[in-house]
Amino acid sequence: MKILTLSILFCIGLFASGKSIYKTKCSSCHAGYIPMGKLKENFVEYNNTKLHLKAPAINQLSFRLKQKIGDPKGDEDFHMMEVVSFIQSYLYAPDKSKSVCMKEVLDAFDTMPSMKGKITEEEIEAVGEYIYNYDARMLEKHSVKYHKFDQALQKAKKEHKIIMIKATSEFCHYCKQMDREVLADDEVLEVLHKSFIAVSVDVYKEKLPLNLSFTVTPTYFFIDSNKKLLLKVPGAFDKEDFLHILQKVKK
Ligand code: HEC
Repeated sequence: MKILTLSILFCIGLFASGKSIYKTKCSSCHAGYIPMGKLKENFVEYNNTKLHLKAPAINQLSFRLKQKIGDPKGDEDFHMMEVVSFIQSYLYAPDKSKSVCMKEVLDAFDTMPSMKGKITEEEIEAVGEYIYNYDARMLEKHSVKYHKFDQALQKAKKEHKIIMIKATSEFCHYCKQMDREVLADDEVLEVLHKSFIAVSVDVYKEKLPLNLSFTVTPTYFFIDSNKKLLLKVPGAFDKEDFLHILQKVKK
């Protein structure tokens, strides 16, 4: 019994440790979640003089590692192993020429100091898995909440809001970029939460409601609670333009 309890405790300990290892061994340099739009602005326009980061933020690391290492479209467990093994080799022998971040980002930093002797392989595995899963977790947490259309219609009626339907697809690069840089931006989120109910439709998996038609993804449709189409905007937008669109629809 004692052994069982101990081993359960040990497992929970291992489980929780990715986050705590990040906190104790990485977070002094790699900051926690910062919205992608803010990061881009800081590095591309301000040369890191706005946020004064000491290293890429952890959501930035997570996103780039998943994009650049191994096969992002392959088996997820295998991909995580590939990313963790890259992290391991990087921690023991940092080499900026192997870095995965954008050049504008890396230009702001010296090479990371080696962590050889300061972190064990088990700790790297735990922190590596934590970093691997970080991006998806944060995106979900910070993204606008999506509803099914029927539910959105009821909510829109009750709360006097406008429905925004996003026509998207799994392999649409600009859809994902907008999800990350615009639809997860604090200012945009505030407007969306206040006046809109969001619906997301993967157009290769299900039909758009109300016989709506599209030619490109993403396309954004704005519908009032009487199912009347107010505006249809095809394409991807930056934050300012998207905020303009939302203001226009509200009028
Ligand atoms: C003393 C500061 C510091 C600490 C502590 C630190 N890093 Fe870094 N790290 C950096 C800097 C600066 C860079 C960017 C330059 C580079 O790529 O070498 C970086 C880059 C990286 C990269 C490569 C990023 C790329 O662009 O490819 C990985 C992976 C990484 N760190 C993981 C970690 C992990 C995991 C920890 C904790 C176990 C950690 N780092 C701790 C400063 C640090």
